[in-house]
Amino acid sequence: MCGIVGYVGTDRSVEVLLGGLRRLEYRGYDSAGIAVIGGDGELRIRKHAGKLQILVDDVERQAMPNGGTGIGHTRWATHGSPTDANAHPHLGDNGKLALIHNGIIENFAELKAELLTAHPDTVFTSETDSEVAAHLVGYAFQETGDVTQALRAVVAKLHGAFTLLVMHQDQPGVVVGARRNSPLVIGLGEGENFLASDVAAFVEHTRRALAIGQDQIVTITSRTVSVIDFDGGSVEPEEFEVTWDVSAAEKGGWSSFMAKEISEEPEAVANTLLGRSTGGEVRLPELAGDDDRLKDINRIVILGCGTASYSGLLGKYAIEKWARIPVEVELSHEFRYRDPVLDARTLVISISQSGETMDTLMAVQHAKKAGVHTISVCNTQGATIARESDAVIYTYAGPEIAVASTKAFVAQVAALYLFGLHLARVRGTLDAGESAALLDELKSVPAKLATVLEQHDRIRQLAHWMADTRAVLFLGRHVGFPVALEGALKLKELAYIHAEGFAAGELKHGPIALIEPGQPVFVIVPSPRGKDSLHPKVVSNIQEIKARGARVLVIAEAGDAAVLPYADEVFTIPLASTMFEPMLAVAPLQIFAMELAAAKGLDVDRPRNLAKSVTVE
Ligand code: M6R
Repeated sequence: MCGIVGYVGTDRSVEVLLGGLRRLEYRGYDSAGIAVIGGDGELRIRKHAGKLQILVDDVERQAMPNGGTGIGHTRWATHGSPTDANAHPHLGDNGKLALIHNGIIENFAELKAELLTAHPDTVFTSETDSEVAAHLVGYAFQETGDVTQALRAVVAKLHGAFTLLVMHQDQPGVVVGARRNSPLVIGLGEGENFLASDVAAFVEHTRRALAIGQDQIVTITSRTVSVIDFDGGSVEPEEFEVTWDVSAAEKGGWSSFMAKEISEEPEAVANTLLGRSTGGEVRLPELAGDDDRLKDINRIVILGCGTASYSGLLGKYAIEKWARIPVEVELSHEFRYRDPVLDARTLVISISQSGETMDTLMAVQHAKKAGVHTISVCNTQGATIARESDAVIYTYAGPEIAVASTKAFVAQVAALYLFGLHLARVRGTLDAGESAALLDELKSVPAKLATVLEQHDRIRQLAHWMADTRAVLFLGRHVGFPVALEGALKLKELAYIHAEGFAAGELKHGPIALIEPGQPVFVIVPSPRGKDSLHPKVVSNIQEIKARGARVLVIAEAGDAAVLPYADEVFTIPLASTMFEPMLAVAPLQIFAMELAAAKGLDVDRPRNLAKSVTVE
């Protein structure tokens, strides 16, 4: 979850590292620190608990000698509380070596005990697992005199997940990184090279990148990049070009990244659909050659966490309806520990915006070991989950910086619906006319979504009135249920308000006991049109809660008069058939959560205790 950046180039490490950390701060913001080898050849560090700005202010107040070699870290605390001492970098070899770490070293206690037996004078200044690695690499450097060899000797002893970056004062002009189950990419510049957890850290300097595989070590200088595996064998990394530029990762005048990202939802869906259909049929070139396999599968398991799992639920409804195949949705972290039944006719689809969520990565690896074909739906090019899956359907939502996922959600739903239509074509479960009509309707979502976003000011007003609210309930039925879950998650994580999403049909089985006068309840109401519409049932649910004094806040189709007598507020969505309603209904709930958090004076982009990508289990 931490963000890490390394640089070797001209004498501007301090600016490059602080700029990189600013773009990685979404990964963790408990503390930040940098280490630089100055022009005088001395290694110096600065680090502070709290947000990056504290470090930036300190570096500005007491200028730090610049140099061409440096590493930087922004932390999401695991071992040890967020203090100055626990902030990275950590030092080894009597202060001549600096190390930063993302992940968890599971056997750090044993390693520390061994280290203290071999070197009883070692002084630990933090409670972190990472400092153990710094000392181990420091002692290994004393034997090898080379950072790459020293790091290679140490990673062989580590259990767990890690990305480590190391530099040593006696080997200036070199930064070495190693990764296992934790992200690391290389940025290729002109006379300078970069290492980072995410391309966002260096995209303002270069869009040329190299992906590093599992269990590999990379050594960069200003002019060279070399990669080896943990056994020392040489590796040829795969080059890719970052498809977005730095402006996509800037706020561009919006009050928050989240506000900007919600406004980009129509574009995120449109870009995800772009070039993926021809003549009324979905075409997914990424699945070319898979038709026989897709005809043969008899079950799909969708994996994801948080918001990604809710887009997965919508994927289930669509795939089952259109391709007539059973689909289960499971939280990635529950999946592999219950010894799931898997066979060659199962297809696993993992969903992850970041492509680095450890729980999902582990679940994919588990499925692959069981011989299951895996497809990922991912928003980050070259991410670990994408690379480890047999195929990837990228969403093209652009970089999502705010910790709360918004545009990625609707883009994931679009990608899953494309997959559902593709599968239906391959399996012959929809006729051409139906399929073309559904595709057309999917393509109409961006324009409709843009009209939903026009209600932003009214939603803001409601959120401001409700700034003192202590609990909010969300009800939805069928495809409205995942929307209710997502609305509740957004409100919890952003506004720190107790929020629960329920399937409306479950109301009478317990949750209705929570309704008391004034209790706010958002209800996602399906369209009244269509012979099988669940509209009458949801309107009955509204009547039941209204009768008990609930404050009813409704998301309904424009012109739905049946809800008006009971609703305290109505936000409308344009006419859409059932499967597409969630892509429209979710935006008002995202905006509501964001505006309520803003009304409470909270940091909308960086809610407490969270990080954008959860790269530890
Ligand atoms: O990067 P991923 O899509 O794998 O992330 C999954 C969840 O951690 C993420 O959706 C999380 O629930 C967000 N904080 C929701 O806003």
